[in-house]
Amino acid sequence: MDNFEPATFGELNADDYDELHDPGTTDETVALISSMVGTGRVLELAIGTGRIALPLAKGGCDISGIDGSPDMVAKLRDKPGGDKIPVKIGDFADVDISGTFDHVFLVFNTLFNLQTQDDQVRCFANTAKRLNPGGTFLIEAFVPNFTGFTENQRVKTKRVDAQSVWLEAVQHDPINQNFDFQRIRITEAGTKLVPLPLRYAYPAEINLMARLAGLRLKHRWGNWDRSAFTADSTFHISVYEKPV
Ligand SMILES: C[S@@+](CC[C@H](N)C(=O)[O-])C[C@H]1O[C@@H](n2cnc3c(N)ncnc32)[C@H](O)[C@@H]1O
Repeated sequence: MDNFEPATFGELNADDYDELHDPGTTDETVALISSMVGTGRVLELAIGTGRIALPLAKGGCDISGIDGSPDMVAKLRDKPGGDKIPVKIGDFADVDISGTFDHVFLVFNTLFNLQTQDDQVRCFANTAKRLNPGGTFLIEAFVPNFTGFTENQRVKTKRVDAQSVWLEAVQHDPINQNFDFQRIRITEAGTKLVPLPLRYAYPAEINLMARLAGLRLKHRWGNWDRSAFTADSTFHISVYEKPV
């Protein structure tokens, strides 16, 4: 999908992000991350509107963030405590922020917002450079699933009521592992299109990206309660460690 820059997600979604993008796992995510980070210095890649970072900061976590979207970060700044978290505006694949960190995390499938394998590999390499020895990089990502796809496409009805219909169309490019999503919201007032291009990777490929960056897999869970990752898991939480 052309012309989708680091700021584009926020231009399309910032206004209703908190309302429409709640995965329902925020408390569990915050609980697991806060149990891991202790007093260490923490960086969230793609901090967004602060869904995870704000409760962590409230609990005393020393957290900074990077995001490509001034619109998303403006929403974070508007919330209580949101002006106190240091945030760098930029492409999170560059990890262009000063200092080093004990823990870096990137949740809610956002690794896949980087649309090429090269960008994802670069993200791992740059993250590893910013990690202190013994530091960790936690990723939350879905396991690719092609249920409902025929001829590399699917259309799903997401919501229907008397005033609107929300549809989701996806085209799949199996060569480059890209999903081009178009969310189509039709109301009496008109049609709103919310595109999202993703580049998916299987857990084994993500391990390889980490290995290329000198990181090793420490944990892989199938849920935020640290339950086992199995063949039935729909997503994974993977924690990579920089050797001491
Ligand atoms: C799904 S949201 C996740 C936000 C937050 N981490 C959360 O869990 O709610 C994706 C975020 O990634 C940011 N983003 C997408 N591509 C980016 C890029 N290349 N560089 C920096 N930020 C990017 C968007 O602006 C958005 O804030």
